[in-house]
Amino acid sequence: LKIKEAEFIISAVKPEQYPVDNLPEVAMAGRSNVGKSSMINKLCNRRHLARTSSTPGKTQTLNFYQINKAYYIVDLPGYGYASVSKTLRAGWGPMMENYLRNRPQLRGVIQLVDIRHPPSKDDIAMYEWLTHFQIATAVIATKSDKISRGQHGKHVKVIRQTLNVPKEVPILTFSSETGEGKEDVLDLLGYLWGT
Ligand code: GTP
Ligand code: MG
Repeated sequence: LKIKEAEFIISAVKPEQYPVDNLPEVAMAGRSNVGKSSMINKLCNRRHLARTSSTPGKTQTLNFYQINKAYYIVDLPGYGYASVSKTLRAGWGPMMENYLRNRPQLRGVIQLVDIRHPPSKDDIAMYEWLTHFQIATAVIATKSDKISRGQHGKHVKVIRQTLNVPKEVPILTFSSETGEGKEDVLDLLGYLWGT
């Protein structure tokens, strides 16, 4: 898959604001600060399409990016960040859950985890929740530039075991810094969208 065009459409806080053009969607899930928004920028070759920050909790709404006028990538708020106020969390928990459960256009979710660390309790809960609701879920171990290549396999194995990812489901590695894994992630997106 080649991304020729990427356009920010809307930052939605309620279903009435979701796009109505009925294009296939893939959502990016993961802990705050894991690199969801950075991945979207790297995949689209745009440095400032999605807002990123070294402070966790940057993305707090459902952000829809239209790709090649034919698909959407949906950037989700991160979970698992304690300092984000309770009111905010109370607001986006149901919002995300509602989106993930009741969106016919949703073709799959890409769950990002940090390649350096075993998945957290929140990561495990998220992955279980997605598979429980039979949402097609792929896992990407990101920030792969933070450890040496030789360590990738070992870390991916821990992630697979901790999340209990079936062996037929690949876990991709990716870096928004170096672009490592970009082609594979684009192919995965194309597959999930149904191109
Ligand atoms: P929230 O919006 O808070 O949920 O976070 P997010 O998952 O969208 O993370 P974001 O893309 O804003 O990135 C968080 C921080 O990690 C930023 O400082 C990024 O520069 C950094 N970062 C993201 N991806 C990578 C990566 O692949 N490698 C390295 N070294 N840093 C990364
Ligand atoms: Mg973000």
